[in-house]
Amino acid sequence: MSDFPSFFDQIIDRLGGREAVQVLLGVGPSALSNYRMRASLPARQQARLAAALKEAGWLLDLDQLRLTPLRARGPLRILLIITGGIAAYKGLELARRLMDRGYHVTGVMTESAQQFITPLSLAALTGEKVYSALFSLTDESEMGHIRLARRADLVLIAPATANFLAKMAAGLADDLASTLCLATDSPVVAAPAMNPVMWAHPATQHNLATLQQRAVHIIPPQQGDTACGEIGTGRLPDAADIISYVDRQFSCRESALSGRHILVTSGPTYEPVDSVRYIANHSSGKQGHALAMACLARGAQVTLVSGPVQLADPPGARVIRVKSAQQMHDACIDSLPADAALCAAAVADWHVVGSRAKKIKKGTDGPPQLTLAENPDILASLSRHASRPALVVGFAAETENLKIQAMEKRARKKCDWIVGNLVGGTDMAEVFGADENQVSLVTQDGVEDWPRMSKQAVADKLADRIEEWFDEQHRQSKTA
Ligand code: PMT
Repeated sequence: MSDFPSFFDQIIDRLGGREAVQVLLGVGPSALSNYRMRASLPARQQARLAAALKEAGWLLDLDQLRLTPLRARGPLRILLIITGGIAAYKGLELARRLMDRGYHVTGVMTESAQQFITPLSLAALTGEKVYSALFSLTDESEMGHIRLARRADLVLIAPATANFLAKMAAGLADDLASTLCLATDSPVVAAPAMNPVMWAHPATQHNLATLQQRAVHIIPPQQGDTACGEIGTGRLPDAADIISYVDRQFSCRESALSGRHILVTSGPTYEPVDSVRYIANHSSGKQGHALAMACLARGAQVTLVSGPVQLADPPGARVIRVKSAQQMHDACIDSLPADAALCAAAVADWHVVGSRAKKIKKGTDGPPQLTLAENPDILASLSRHASRPALVVGFAAETENLKIQAMEKRARKKCDWIVGNLVGGTDMAEVFGADENQVSLVTQDGVEDWPRMSKQAVADKLADRIEEWFDEQHRQSKTA
């Protein structure tokens, strides 16, 4: 808390000076000096300050000693800086997904980033000029670097190379990207990506610590295969995770989901045949996890009950890992009460009766006969439960007659909405494991066909609809 006094001064500044803050808090000058020196504020004063700052367009984070600008209207304007690592190509996907999410993106590329991707590709995705040269007369006349830095609500560097982090830590300004980082007064978020040994190097860690002290947000890299082929920590987080971070930290939309408990199921279930074999399906969990992230981004408390998947846990979710349908059912029921349940998991309809504790051996009697028995239906159980969530949404994975089957499932399982998607088949794009989906939303009012889009965009659109549904319930309860 050694930075508290200067942070407190900053707050006083934003609220119009000491006298204004004294009036706001109903205290004299000595109380202000005490708060400043002791680095602590009574809870009610914290609440007053937070409310006044919000009114003034700032989000107060006393734990991190951070003030983040709020935008009342229009999309957040993100200056996306792509620096020159092998993961630079992922910056393109990030730009596209940020745009899908409704953010306004202006691209900046370092010279070395252009060794990996072209400004033209980024310009095509963002629909905007991409900036790269510090001393370009056209750029300077069209938009000087100071203006470029200042009109952004957020500077996002992804991927951020070890070299670029070092430049930022040293305060260098020898190209456009590093100059923008020095010239901005908006929050700066860096998503580093590099070779695991470079990431672990004390020099890099020292630079990161310096940047964090200066309130630069760092989204840590993930473990796994890095773009350079080595395994370890250094992989650029998935675009969805970066966007979820941006949503949570900087999006100021008041959401009807804020503070609500949302239960999400995701991924496949494994039904054991014996101690080494199981029956499963191709669900990757991408759609369910994207839903969890969309709800988290809107401030919901998310319980994610997930079958076995290869995905990172959505940051901030309470994740319960299960294998079988029965385990998923029990975890869901134990997680009630919830305001909404979103069942995107591909749950096995049957399990093997009397699955063996030992491996079934191949014998002379031919293949073993497996007897199947029905699994509990989680969606139907939630819909009929005494503590039924106010809104229960199921998914329907069909190979034919999508709309009819989805409507029939909605009626039979007594859920409120069904999101239908065509899976498998030869003439349609794959859904299981893919990054995109094309769905139809079935509600009591009928069927809506949504265009094909990323699973994250499907999740966001559905979360928007759920927000609207809660808003409507709220309005109705007030007029009743
Ligand atoms: O995971 P991905 O690779 O991203 O793929 C996404 C997806 C295709 C898995 C997803 O979009 C999807 O359609 N999920 C539901 C798959 C499914 O099990 O559909 P179904 O028609 O068999 O079941 C209908 C609904 O009942 C689903 O909400 C399912 O979760 C639920 N169910 C099914 C059986 C059961 N025993 N209990 C259930 O709750």
